[in-house]
Amino acid sequence: MTATAKPYLTGHYAPVADELTATGLTVEGTLPPELTGRLVRNSHNPKPGITPTHWFKGSGMVHGIRLRDGRAEWYRNRWVHTPALDGAPYLTEHGPDLTASAAGTHVIEHAGRLLALCEANLPFELTRELDTVGAYDFNGKLRTAMTAHPKEDPVTGELHFFASSPFPPFLTYYVADAKGEIVHSAEVPGATASLKHDFAVTRRHVVFVEGNVTFDPADHSGIPYGWSDEQPARIGVMPRGADGAGRVRWFSIEPGNMLHVANAYEDGLGRIVLEGPTVDREGFRLSWNWWVGAPGRGSEPVSRSYTRRWVVDLVDGTVDEQIIDDLPVEFPTLNEEYLGAENRYRYAVSFPDEEGFGGYGVVKYDRITGARRIRPVGDARMPSEAVFVPAAGATGEDEGYLLTVVSDLKQDASQLLVLDAAGLDRIATVHLPHRVTAGLHGSWIPDAGQDATRG
Ligand SMILES: [Fe+2]
Repeated sequence: MTATAKPYLTGHYAPVADELTATGLTVEGTLPPELTGRLVRNSHNPKPGITPTHWFKGSGMVHGIRLRDGRAEWYRNRWVHTPALDGAPYLTEHGPDLTASAAGTHVIEHAGRLLALCEANLPFELTRELDTVGAYDFNGKLRTAMTAHPKEDPVTGELHFFASSPFPPFLTYYVADAKGEIVHSAEVPGATASLKHDFAVTRRHVVFVEGNVTFDPADHSGIPYGWSDEQPARIGVMPRGADGAGRVRWFSIEPGNMLHVANAYEDGLGRIVLEGPTVDREGFRLSWNWWVGAPGRGSEPVSRSYTRRWVVDLVDGTVDEQIIDDLPVEFPTLNEEYLGAENRYRYAVSFPDEEGFGGYGVVKYDRITGARRIRPVGDARMPSEAVFVPAAGATGEDEGYLLTVVSDLKQDASQLLVLDAAGLDRIATVHLPHRVTAGLHGSWIPDAGQDATRG
């Protein structure tokens, strides 16, 4: 198979070949002056000539767009300079090298540190200009890998995260305070080697999800995981607090796998409500084969999904499970002021189905009315994760903006699209100096003192 045959190296996913810095970007429409900060977004972007054995093994490249007072001041893109970028192996004779990271999954800021994340490794700290500082281990307190999906509690400012491992301890939970110091860590009993990519934090609980995708040493893609019917699917609910791990409870759910949590919260009856897009065995097969470039793959990295809602009754010990949407979507986002609390709105990116119907779009769900609205972004154009930024002084949950970077194959170009989150109307377009690879997760980082939330 040639390098160009890998789906994650072609089309919207074709890697960017160089690092650029551009200033004074062209803006169409009007950029709200309150959008003063940086949008940063990560992606798997191997160096030219390199063909990773798995999409997620491609070296991370972070793209940044600096907005200030209605102007788009700069764009820059930088590889995350980890030992893996220079070919260092993850597995060594001394065990895993946690610094040999693709660092291509997510990029967040916490306590003033910009961190590129990949779940099998330590975070990598970047400067505001996206240059690599180095691996970051929280002053020696992080001795495991770190999930790429930590959760910043909007009330306490704490960063909650975990490490998932194929070997015991399978699950370690951490809390860093608002200043970035790890103040708590605990092994979580009862966990298995099931792949845990994301999790949820409510006001009172931490929620883990184990699906049917688990450690499989027979897989040779370089990421040894696969679907197992024998792996039980479960939700783990753990009280927050220093003694929570000893009180974790695991609840059986229907087979499936969830990559990303949309949100979770306690409802008025104290039940845990958890939602997110999931795949069944066939959906996982279509996706995995795309991610490794194998035959029998779907036409998209996400070819089908079922958004599920679980309601966990901690008193009765029961779980009610429903499929609430069957549109192929991924990258669920929300106004993160509502993270862990009951949210009305959630957003996602939609993919064409296996017949090619639907196209790519930004989706808005209204959990009260049940309405689903899809905003297509145009022919041969693909949006990335839509990051919500609240408007200044907003009182309504959807008063704000959705920021998404569009890959435009026809023009071989990219733009930052700023949508009004209420109606999904376009407010502004920022033209970027080259096409940006369709990628994974990102964050909005407001300037200090800005009344806005991190994406
Ligand atoms: Fe993710």
